[in-house]
Amino acid sequence: MSRLDVFINRMVSQRACLDFAIEQTRGMTGPVFELGLGNGRTFDHMRERMPERDIFVFERKVESNPASTPDAEMTILGDVRETLPQSLERFGPTAQLIHADLGGHNLEKNDRFAREISPLVEPMLAVGGLMVSSDKMYFSALTELPLPEGAVAGRCFVYRRDA
Ligand SMILES: C[S@@+](CC[C@H](N)C(=O)[O-])C[C@H]1O[C@@H](n2cnc3c(N)ncnc32)[C@H](O)[C@@H]1O
Repeated sequence: MSRLDVFINRMVSQRACLDFAIEQTRGMTGPVFELGLGNGRTFDHMRERMPERDIFVFERKVESNPASTPDAEMTILGDVRETLPQSLERFGPTAQLIHADLGGHNLEKNDRFAREISPLVEPMLAVGGLMVSSDKMYFSALTELPLPEGAVAGRCFVYRRDA
């Protein structure tokens, strides 16, 4: 499988998993969190599909396309290892949807980072809330859901808090 194939599978899976999570959480209150702004493509998709919801974006350095840059008051600047615990104090366990795309090209590093932040992400989700991640996460109490149609196994992961 070429790097182009892997990239396309990741993009197609992100969209399928995000669209699924957006539908599943429709009607819930509470904030949405985008972890890793990057170019802003997934942020742009999310705000287009759910304009009625508040989307807070976590990023250490904003370098997104100007067309998909969040407002300053919706941007939580800094390393997520610091801003996630701070945000848990601010918001409590209220997030209806969390999307994480924080990794780079080094798969081992991505996996180590996913292990590190899983316990920081897990308590932020409300009951019934969904978490979509490009990396496998290591949660203690969330349920991993079957992938929606169109998503490619291993390219996206979806988790739900049931209780
Ligand atoms: C792959 S990009 C996200 C791409 C985005 N989903 C898009 O569609 O354009 C990953 C982003 O996560 C950010 N990031 C990585 N580690 C971080 C950390 N520890 N704290 C905050 N942001 C981080 C990087 O700066 C980068 O912008």
